[in-house]
Amino acid sequence: MWEYSEKVLEHYRHPRNVGKIDDADLIGEAGSLACGDSLKLYLKLDGNVIKDAKFQTFGCGSAVASSSILTEMIIGKTLEEAKKITNKDIADELGGLPQEKMHCSVMGQEALEDALKKYYGEDVIEEELGVSPSGDKIVCTCFNVTENQIWEAIKINNLKTVEEVTNYTKAGGACGRCRGVIKDIIDTYLKKEGHAPQLTQTQKILKISKVIDQQISPQLQKDGGDIELVDVVGNTVQVKLTGVCSGCKNAAMTLKSFVESVLKDKVDANLEVEQV
Ligand code: FES
Repeated sequence: MWEYSEKVLEHYRHPRNVGKIDDADLIGEAGSLACGDSLKLYLKLDGNVIKDAKFQTFGCGSAVASSSILTEMIIGKTLEEAKKITNKDIADELGGLPQEKMHCSVMGQEALEDALKKYYGEDVIEEELGVSPSGDKIVCTCFNVTENQIWEAIKINNLKTVEEVTNYTKAGGACGRCRGVIKDIIDTYLKKEGHAPQLTQTQKILKISKVIDQQISPQLQKDGGDIELVDVVGNTVQVKLTGVCSGCKNAAMTLKSFVESVLKDKVDANLEVEQV
């Protein structure tokens, strides 16, 4: 069962600004009924200030709460200020949302962007978001999610796994056919940002083994010792010190200051080494 903040429950039970503005200046839409939820956002402007905002949504309680709080957040703001609002701001304003419901805050942001694109033009908004290199093609046909939407969710929310992308965009949450492409988008983004792509557990074990064989073991052998990789459980690397290292009173220090620091540096900063 998901835990909801008091503010989410309050906006779900008493949503603000529900309805339609007949003479709206801008209208933004996100989601689709076929995909389970949708949002239509109406904006009335006074110059470049959002004088009124209303919404119509079909979705769960989190979608209602996200849409409701979004209207409160944007009324009185200039369009420039509204342009800076992200799904993370919407979720934060609600006191947080369960990970599995973060896509509701994303739907709010997308409806706002859709409305603003009609004012600023598509290119301006997309340039500011830093869209993906290969454009706006549909990646997840089950939920109609584009590559740009996935790219943007990764960027704003610092997402690193396919499961997180599914929680934030729904992409990958049905037949699963698109999960490989989502993983590629995550890796491309991380690479572009200068981060090493997330390794699978098998890739991680192979890399650890290689670093031990090529960089750690030769150093220990110089002093008559050695090391064997026993297992990798999550981020814990289980090793066995051999030769003179096995009885060495500085074994614990060798593990932390040398073995662990090399593995953290070369493979993954989250690794910890344990002697078994
Ligand atoms: S194509 Fe993405 S879940 Fe089916």
